[in-house]
Amino acid sequence: MQHFTTVYDVNDPLQLINEALDLKSSPYSFSKLGRNKTLGLIFLNPSLRTRLSTQKAAKMLGMEVMIMNMDKESWAIEWNDDVVMNGSTVEHIKDAAAVLGSYCDIIGIRCFPSLTDQKIDYSEKILVQLMRYCNVPVVSLESATLHPLQSLTDAITIKENWNASHKPKVVLSWAPHIKALPQAVANSFAEWMTKIDVDLTITHPKGYELCEDFTKGATIEYDQEKALQDADFVYVKNWSSYNDYGKTPEVKENWMLDLEKYKLTNKAGIMHCLPVRRDVELSSKLIDHTNSLVQKQATNRVFAAQVVLKNMLTTLNAKADTKVEHLETENV
Ligand code: CP
Repeated sequence: MQHFTTVYDVNDPLQLINEALDLKSSPYSFSKLGRNKTLGLIFLNPSLRTRLSTQKAAKMLGMEVMIMNMDKESWAIEWNDDVVMNGSTVEHIKDAAAVLGSYCDIIGIRCFPSLTDQKIDYSEKILVQLMRYCNVPVVSLESATLHPLQSLTDAITIKENWNASHKPKVVLSWAPHIKALPQAVANSFAEWMTKIDVDLTITHPKGYELCEDFTKGATIEYDQEKALQDADFVYVKNWSSYNDYGKTPEVKENWMLDLEKYKLTNKAGIMHCLPVRRDVELSSKLIDHTNSLVQKQATNRVFAAQVVLKNMLTTLNAKADTKVEHLETENV
């Protein structure tokens, strides 16, 4: 694996999920793989799970980890090329990324969208500029449009909690929130679920349609109760409008998943990526329910990060071996 920014960076998502579950049963099997390798984690936005689980995963593989809250602790970065830097930005990403790449073997970055300019956000400008200039593999820790480590975790959690022979019915259900949130978790969940062996239904109010690039293969159902019927897993998540970009069109009906609506499901596993606003997005009784998978998802973040880093380290080590062989051949 070279980079990890989308499901399309993975050759075989099902194999990666199984490999993560193997790591979960034996987390220190590759504790020397990352020896003398450094992971740099760059945050432009807050994080609890991603920051700590990725750090833990790297350490379990024997890596060193450096972390920087780049929005607060570094110089103000200029992300655009061909700019005369006589304004508020102090350092160009071209220079900063090259420096980071010289200190780190792998770089992770969290870079949320502005939610004001769809074109810029969906071009993934920040992620792309880092990848262009750092010259080392990059892991997305949640970008403007996708959160692949979260979706891999969600896929691992579904696989781990599904024993029946038929395909599970998985429902992504829009939830209310007090502010505008990115579409990244929902886009990414749809992207991953449509690549593995599940039936995905997405339910949301009119006006909250996601970008169709990510939802191909899913059923879209505007009637939440109809969507929840016989669901085996329900993933609850808020997102802002994609079409009326970053806006939160008014929703008069009650879209919060509660015990009454939950009764429509097939005793579904209840999922949320966290952080969650209790009794706004999802009923407290469901978060604390025996069928809640919310804490299991958070635990699995470690093994999602670990399997991704393991695959990247394997690729890096193979490249280093090839280089040594090449030099040895030249010196014969
Ligand atoms: N789910 C998730 O990405 O959590 P954090 O924002 O706390 O990292």
